[in-house]
Amino acid sequence: MAQDPFSGRTAVITGGGGGIGSALARAFAERGAKLALADVDPEAARRVADELVAGGTQAEAFPVDVTDRSDVFRLADAVVERFGKAHIVCNNAGVALGGEMWSAPMADWNYTMDVNFWGVLHGVQAFVPRILEHGEGGYIVNTASMAGLTGMSFLGMYCASKFAVVGLSESLSREVRPQGIGVSVLCPMIVETDINRNTMARHPDPERRKLANLAPPNDAAPPMRGGVVQAGDVARRVVRAMERDQLYILTHPEQQEILRRRSHRIDSAFSAENWEP
Ligand SMILES: NC(=O)c1ccc[n+]([C@@H]2O[C@H](COP(=O)([O-])OP(=O)(O)OC[C@H]3O[C@@H](n4cnc5c(N)ncnc54)[C@H](O)[C@@H]3O)[C@@H](O)[C@H]2O)c1
Repeated sequence: MAQDPFSGRTAVITGGGGGIGSALARAFAERGAKLALADVDPEAARRVADELVAGGTQAEAFPVDVTDRSDVFRLADAVVERFGKAHIVCNNAGVALGGEMWSAPMADWNYTMDVNFWGVLHGVQAFVPRILEHGEGGYIVNTASMAGLTGMSFLGMYCASKFAVVGLSESLSREVRPQGIGVSVLCPMIVETDINRNTMARHPDPERRKLANLAPPNDAAPPMRGGVVQAGDVARRVVRAMERDQLYILTHPEQQEILRRRSHRIDSAFSAENWEP
């Protein structure tokens, strides 16, 4: 019988202290996985770990800043020490800043790329060799966004970081799937989480951090337009996609038409008249 992707396996989730990350943790725990929750907010990760432990799941919280490569490698060592092996890794921690990309301060660009892109790469580099080493197979889920599949105005920084995660994931899938590691890239539209407030609360500029409490809830004034879904529904989609080994995880039905229009625009660039001298 094929190995169950969750039961008895250890899942590492960055950004596991809230939002989509904590919902993934609950969904994986329901399926019998053990959980390592990594978050830059240690209290938040501990709360989720305590809740899971109370429900009978082996779970631990790890304070980790994914922008710091050594921190993520220390996490990988700590997970092996505490759980023996890591099988599932969700590189999920992320921040979302809007604004005109051409006039945005470099602090915003760096903050966005440091967490959303380098954070994911650090997770891949720290964990893939360890999964290959134990030889039991595994799964990497990278959280991108619909903003990683189509450009959006006033979300240029976020789109650039998330397109990079989609590209990285597509390539990674080709590299490691033949070696027994599945790869999915999660691309939601609006999910009801505290991402706006959390993003500002960790902004490198102290003046911007002071504005964290003024940040609107993500479902009230999102830069993306469309339906709002709950993190628990996203997590159920992720579980299903992992069971089916699907590269792309989409969560909002309205994405289909938007992506179709994008494909059509690309396709029409090949029309004969564009090739005439
Ligand atoms: N909420 C949405 O509408 C939405 C839509 C598409 C994609 N996403 C993506 O989903 C992922 C999760 O976002 P969320 O909505 O659950 O947000 P969230 O703010 O609720 O959760 C993100 C978690 O990541 C943690 N985190 C932030 N920076 C970190 C760092 N440097 N190191 C470690 N942990 C860090 C935060 O403390 C928080 O617990 C992100 O990658 C985000 O870009 C969210």
